[in-house]
Amino acid sequence: MRCPRVEQRIKRVDAFLRSMKDRLHAEIRLHLPVKTPLRVLEAGCGSSSQITIEPEWHVTGIDLSERQLSQNRVLHEKILGNIETHRWEPESFDLIVCWDVIEHLRNPEQALRNLFGALSQGGLLVLAFPHILSIKGLITKFTPYSVASAFYRFAIGETRDTTESSQFPTHMRFGILPGRITALAQEHGLELSCQYLYEGPVQRYFRALSRVANAGFSAAGLLLPIMTFGRFHPNHTDCILILKKPVAHDLTDTARARVSPSTKKEHHDA
Ligand SMILES: C[S@@+](CC[C@H](N)C(=O)[O-])C[C@H]1O[C@@H](n2cnc3c(N)ncnc32)[C@H](O)[C@@H]1O
Repeated sequence: MRCPRVEQRIKRVDAFLRSMKDRLHAEIRLHLPVKTPLRVLEAGCGSSSQITIEPEWHVTGIDLSERQLSQNRVLHEKILGNIETHRWEPESFDLIVCWDVIEHLRNPEQALRNLFGALSQGGLLVLAFPHILSIKGLITKFTPYSVASAFYRFAIGETRDTTESSQFPTHMRFGILPGRITALAQEHGLELSCQYLYEGPVQRYFRALSRVANAGFSAAGLLLPIMTFGRFHPNHTDCILILKKPVAHDLTDTARARVSPSTKKEHHDA
């Protein structure tokens, strides 16, 4: 049983996360191509979707885990597969969502190249992932998976047994730094529509549960940006990128060459 003050803080975190998702959904709707049915891919779909799925969308999900796929109720098509190696037909999807997945990959760049190729002209790729250059990101990168697992179980209070857990081993390659992903996407002809750097749910809930942790994170969040001249924001634990593949006739010649059929083929064969 939690005390009323903690309950209140948790409700505030819930409200923040809801408003964040609403803003994200509005942003996605703003940039999405107008098409029916809209072809959506959930890459590393897990058992549920983090964005609002509209009834008229056709949703395909791919995941390594048969258990996660079997529990997912929003998918119209299910693929048991690996996004690092799966071959997609070029331009198969108008919206690709890859939420909390690339940090688990050994070769995130390869998976991203595959997803860039699978995106239609005018399509959107939504990537959500932890920011390595944050306190939480650095701890996750440099401590064994068992530490993260124990943290979720004892500090956050995850109660499911490990086979059902929503935690998966994490590689956190430096290739998933927001700047590196954006540069890779731009090399492949995509444009950055939006970047959100924010304090994600895990750290927010942890702060809501512990006043000591809250004080520590607040102090670090004030001091470290000043001490590093704004280069390190320890509480920007999570990042969301919205990347858009422009329609060919909107492009300059150089950019058009990047999304030309030969480039697409390279994505497809990769
Ligand atoms: C943290 S969960 C996120 C699930 C879902 N996207 C969400 O936000 O709720 C990570 C998911 O990625 C899947 N996954 C990890 N590596 C993968 C890979 N190489 N190919 C496909 N799925 C993968 C895991 O099985 C797991 O379901």
